[in-house]
Amino acid sequence: MRWWENDFLRVRDNRIFLSGREASEVARTHGTPLYVYGKDQISSNFRRLQTILREATPLEGRICYAMKANPNPAILALLKSEGAWIDAVSPGEVRAAMEAGFTPRKILFTGTSLSTSDLRSAFGQTGLTVNIDALEQIELMVDVKPRSFRNKAVRVSVRWNPGLGRGFSPRAITAGERSSDGTPIKFGVEKNKVLATYKKAAESGFSPVGLHQHLGSGWEKEDYETVKAAVDKMVGIALELEREGFRLEFLDFGGGFGPKYHKNQRLFPVQEYIRYFCGKIRQTGLRIKAVAIEPGKYLTADAGVLLLRVEYIKESYGHLFACVDGGTYNTVPRPAIYSQAHHEIVSCTHVDGRPRREITIAGNLCETGDVFGRERLMPPLKRGDILAVLCAGAYCRSMASNFNLRQIPKEIII
Ligand code: LLP
Repeated sequence: MRWWENDFLRVRDNRIFLSGREASEVARTHGTPLYVYGKDQISSNFRRLQTILREATPLEGRICYAMKANPNPAILALLKSEGAWIDAVSPGEVRAAMEAGFTPRKILFTGTSLSTSDLRSAFGQTGLTVNIDALEQIELMVDVKPRSFRNKAVRVSVRWNPGLGRGFSPRAITAGERSSDGTPIKFGVEKNKVLATYKKAAESGFSPVGLHQHLGSGWEKEDYETVKAAVDKMVGIALELEREGFRLEFLDFGGGFGPKYHKNQRLFPVQEYIRYFCGKIRQTGLRIKAVAIEPGKYLTADAGVLLLRVEYIKESYGHLFACVDGGTYNTVPRPAIYSQAHHEIVSCTHVDGRPRREITIAGNLCETGDVFGRERLMPPLKRGDILAVLCAGAYCRSMASNFNLRQIPKEIII
């Protein structure tokens, strides 16, 4: 088995099969470029986490899908049927989650730079939990809280910034004072303002029920020690809040762990991590009812591929290019946005083939950065071949644009 094979993506007779269907046939039937998602893979990713949580703690374990990863309605409906909760970050996401059948009670709304109109829309959904990003945000919340809410407290939690963060790219580190490239981090409430935020929220008529942190996205094994240190800090501050008389319902440790994008990637130890924070809560005797995590890419990334067709092979100044019928920004924008992002690319009709040559998979947009993969060792390619860009189930369709007035591809789920 190749390192990227899973229940969704299999190789048989040197060809790629997606949920048991031959990829090149799927491409022929539906056209390219095309996103293909696998239901069973998403379910099995979800159930794996559910089992880990159930084995690690007697507390309620909430798996809040970070739907920014992929808000496809069929995926939302599937995860709802599996028992997921939702991490939503905008009124649009809240609406899409509710259309897929999630009740507000199961939605944690974690916006940043929220406007009064965003907050008004959130308060309109009774039961929704608003995750506060700043002490200063409470003023806006007071301004928009309808009178009718006075006696009916709005559930809120506080997103704090533990001063530590990790992520695969400086742009995906969401906690700490500065990111690894020096950018000041905008998210969350700093340590010495957490208690004041809790107090102010309670005094302003809100009902603080939780504490949240999200350190960043795309952790690898080497991030584990920092992540553990942030867990210790979070449990510590939750105990402090408890000592001050606040009764927390949940701690939410955010998302961040992902699938294997790259052959040489050392995977983050998800099970150890979950056992670690559950153990920590048990040891300290924190009296909470539930723990939450917010996986995005873990649930959907490896359950999706993008299929592309090779239009022609070009040679220029000694470089070989496979020119394909899609552009990165319109389909799989991650490699164009983050220099650290890698997506494996395979030929659907001859996975292995000789002689392998270095070839750049070039998109159809007017930008040099528009390459899906640079100088990849691949079997001989030719016009009409179908290529699969792997791990395209998260942050691909959701971040795709119409740059160059190109269309965003169709999605199918099988
Ligand atoms: N919770 C919060 C509050 C988040 O902001 C995010 C992602 C997640 C959960 C889910 O993180 P995940 O489990 O998917 O790592 N666009 C980037 C990733 C940035 C995600 C930002 N926040 C990418 O293409 O990799």
